[in-house]
Amino acid sequence: MKEGANLAVPRKTERRVCVLRDKAFGTLRGMNASIAENLAQVHAQIQAACQAAGRPASSVRLLAVSKTWGADAVRQAHAAGQTAFGENYIQEAVDKITELKALPLEWHCIGPIQSNKTRLVAEHFDWVHTIDRLKIAQRLSEQRPATLPPLQVCIQVNVDGGETKSGVSPQNLPELARAVATLPHMQLRGLMTIPEPAQSEEAARAVHRQARLLLEGLVQEGLALDTLSMGMSADMAPAIAEGSTMVRVGTAIFGKR
Ligand SMILES: Cc1ncc(COP(=O)(O)O)c(C=O)c1O
Repeated sequence: MKEGANLAVPRKTERRVCVLRDKAFGTLRGMNASIAENLAQVHAQIQAACQAAGRPASSVRLLAVSKTWGADAVRQAHAAGQTAFGENYIQEAVDKITELKALPLEWHCIGPIQSNKTRLVAEHFDWVHTIDRLKIAQRLSEQRPATLPPLQVCIQVNVDGGETKSGVSPQNLPELARAVATLPHMQLRGLMTIPEPAQSEEAARAVHRQARLLLEGLVQEGLALDTLSMGMSADMAPAIAEGSTMVRVGTAIFGKR
């Protein structure tokens, strides 16, 4: 009897522990599931847009925009297979990059860069999408540590002339592109745009088309470019229809900021 009672105690405790573990696991899985499910949905949207455009799904990369989201959200996205993350605010990004150093992630700077932040960007990021002045590009190239691969960069172009936005004008783009392409510690990969929200799918496509034509013009000039960073949660499909090779998606993956 005594022996049996003694045996019953650990069994009961064990069972309770198991219930707690299951609960914790369930909660964690629940949280993972929402980011993982959102990612799966975004991939399905990319695939559908590619199919409609007669392009292979592998021709569009997904950049998860994790700005304002903590390291845990990035960990969850990474657990669901996402490796490339976009950040707008340099200091916030550097803290996150440092915290997540152990994970094999690729970090993209997609926010404006002031001169006093170039060193942080050059030392911590893999890509920069927002080059719109030669001076910033030169500083990034000079400050890129020799131990790291060349910084991969895109020039941000203001295709629809939005006045408050950054980005080089289409007129000044070729000169800037030629100069950036000669810098030693960076590789110019292509163009990036952030168009104003469009009234219709066709209007959105027209703006994205301009970006593609500008890229094609530079390629014809002899620059080896392969990247069109365009399309966000709301305009992924028209961007892909017009040749985007990298969509930057935040809200549709992580939720409203
Ligand atoms: C440059 C840039 N690209 C992409 C995004 C992602 O936008 P969304 O959350 O609408 O997907 C943001 C978000 O602010 C952004 O600033």
